[in-house]
Parts: sequence; C-alpha cells; structure tokens
Amino acid sequence: MAEAAPIYEGALDRGLEGVVACTTKISFIVGATLNYRGYTIEDLAAHSTFEETIFLLWNDRLPKQDELDKLRKELGAEMTLDAQLISTLKTLPTKGVHPMAWLRSATSAMGLYDKEAQDDSKEANYRKALRLTAKMGMLVTAFERLRTGKEIISPNPSKSIAWNFFYTMTGNEPDAEIVKQFDVCLILHADHELNCSAFAARVTASSLSDVYSAVVSAISALKGPLHGGANEQVMLMLKDIGTIEKAKSWIEDALNNKAKVMGFGHRVYKNGDPRAKILRSMSEKLTAKMGQPHWYQMSDMIDDVMQNKKGLLPNVDFYSATVYYSMGIPIDLYTPIFAASRVSGWLAHIFEQWTNNRIYRPRGKWAGKEGLNWVPPAQR
Ligand code: ACO
Repeated sequence: MAEAAPIYEGALDRGLEGVVACTTKISFIVGATLNYRGYTIEDLAAHSTFEETIFLLWNDRLPKQDELDKLRKELGAEMTLDAQLISTLKTLPTKGVHPMAWLRSATSAMGLYDKEAQDDSKEANYRKALRLTAKMGMLVTAFERLRTGKEIISPNPSKSIAWNFFYTMTGNEPDAEIVKQFDVCLILHADHELNCSAFAARVTASSLSDVYSAVVSAISALKGPLHGGANEQVMLMLKDIGTIEKAKSWIEDALNNKAKVMGFGHRVYKNGDPRAKILRSMSEKLTAKMGQPHWYQMSDMIDDVMQNKKGLLPNVDFYSATVYYSMGIPIDLYTPIFAASRVSGWLAHIFEQWTNNRIYRPRGKWAGKEGLNWVPPAQR
C-alpha cells in the first residue's frame, strides 16, 4: 500500500518572510546598503556603467577593458529588433493595453523567433541573455513608437543601452547628462536579491523550463503595484495631489483610510532603501533642471509625512518616478524601464539557479474541508 504523504506541520510563513530559499552570490543587502557581487551600489552608481554592471552580475567580477569592450559590442550587435519580430509586434494591440502586458507578450513572441530558444547549452543561454538584455529596452520604445503611430527606429549599435533608449523612443540624439543619469538608474535597478520577480524567474527556472519562460514569469511578477508597478503609481499619485499645499492632507487622508501609499515601505529595509537616497538627490537636481522643482518638493513633503505618521521610508520606486518624469518619459513606461534593467539580474538568477538546482515546491497549510463524499448533481 502506498504511504500517505505526511500532514504538513511546519510554521506558516506568509509571504515567505523568514524563509531562506537558496544560496546566492549575486546581490545582497548588507547593513544599510545593497551589494552587487561585493560592490556597494553607491560605488557602482558613482563609477560604473550599466554595461559594466551587467558583466559584473553575470561573471562575479568586474571586466577588464577588453572584456567590457567585447560585451558592449555583443550587446550592440543584438539591440536591433529583427524584421520578423517587428512584423509580429505590429499585430499586437496597443490601445487600452498596459505596456507591461505588451512587454510580457512581446518578450514571449521574441522567444518564438529565437532559434536557440530550446538549446540549453551554456553558450546558447549566454547568447539569449545578450539578446534579452540588449533588446528589452528596445521593445519598450518600440511599444511607444507603435502606439503613437510612428515607425520603429533602429538603434545605434556603437552607443549604450541608456543612449539608445532615448534615441529609439524619440528619434533624437539625447542630452548627455540625461543619458548619464538614466544609466545610473539602470545600475540601481539591475538586481535586488530574492525579490518577487527574481524569485518568480528562479521558480520557473527550477522546473528546468527555458530562459524566455523564466524571464516572462519575472516580467509578470514585476508588473504588480506592490513590486515594480509602484513607480508608475507614485507619479499618478503626485499628479492627482497636484500641489504642494494639498500633499500633507492627501497623504493623511490616505493613511486614515488604511490605503497604501505607493513608493513606501519595504520587506527588508527598515531603515531606508539606499537606492532611494541616490534617486532622491537625482530627483532634486533633475526637477530643478526641467524648471519644475515642485515635483521634488512635493515628494520631499510626502516623505516627511510618511516618516512622521507611519514610520515608513521611501523605496526605490518613490523618487525614481520624478526622475523619469523629469526625463520626459511617459508615466506608464516607468515599470517597463525597470524590466529593461532588471532583466540583467533575472538572467543572473536563472543561471545561478541552474548551477545548484532543486525544484521549488513548498507546502500549503491545509485550511479547507475534509472527508466529503461525491454525490450526483441531482442530489446536491
Ligand atoms: N503605505 C501605508 N502603509 C504601509 C505601506 C505603505 N506604502 N507599506 C506598508 N504599510 C503598512 C501595512 O499596511 C502594514 O500595516 P499593519 O501592520 O497595520 O497592517 C505594515 O505597514 C506592514 O506592511 P506589509 O504590507 O505587511 O509589508 P510587506 O513586507 O508585506 O510589504 C511592501 C512590503 C509590499 C513593499 C509594502 O510596504 C507596500 O505595499 N508598499 C507600497 C507598494 C510599493 O511601494 N512597492 C514597491 C516596493 S520596492 C520594489 O518592489 C521594487
């Protein structure tokens, strides 16, 4: 006789808060800051580039100059969207569609055209990682072009991912300072330990599914307002509040109504998100540069109210909203931009998962009915 599965008696851990699910060497919250492969994000934000950070996340070390040049070249060569993919993208609806839903479908479609999609050799997986990382931002700008009835613009392979984001979105060569600041944003968003979307990618990878499927799982998880979707919600909230004078009472009303204020709170950081500190000063500078400092001032006031009334500090999504707004990026593209950066971290997690894989399969604590007997529909 088959043995019955043991009844699960473990402690319930909602949201897996106290669960350590795997070992990882990619990024880690140490003390008050975040490290990628042993380097603090403050150090990387001050000195590195997104391309160099990608190398770091994938290789566990910083590149030598020739290695960095090679990676830049490889990414440049993979940035352009293939004609076949573009013709499929043109058939996808854009009206009334959230850009993250479109990006999820577009990434999935990209996998259908990738001849190496099912090749799980290390070399093929690396090439897929290059393709996904080089193209994710280009998919985001392709969406923007298509929904506004414009032709998709080919990227310049000799330029960075950050430069090409603006170029392929607008058709104009971007301001060097904006590109630099945006590149820092890409560094800051590249990875973050076992966050919801990286974990989603790892869960899918743990069944030995493919790279595209794992990345699509991650995009789907990032979309939610409790995770990456918060940055868009922050800007919509600021717009809804409208003026600095209204900010304090708006937030107090929201808290009295037990509403969550987007861009605040964090599962791990209880003394503040180090990324928010960098983005905060960027927001102050950029909103002043665009001649609209009130967006920063309003954010600053909300920050104070949240700390005083609720003891909550801003997370990465709070000040990134006004940073992107100052750069002229459409509000609903903020979360897709997050994906264009985080894809590099997701890929690092997928490959790390496969180095020491065991399928994720937790238990649920049973809270349902027991011992019922089936009866025919007429007797129910
Ligand atoms: N506004 C108001 N109250 C909040 C907020 C907030 N932003 N965040 C947490 N709280 C309150 C909760 O209501 C809860 O109060 P209670 O104990 O009285 O019920 C308490 O603080 C604990 O909050 P949880 O939601 O249980 O914390 P958890 O660790 O599960 O969630 C999360 C963390 C999702 C980030 C949460 O703080 C939140 O929803 N924030 C707003 C959304 C957001 O900004 N998400 C982006 C996070 S960063 C990222 O993913 C990229």
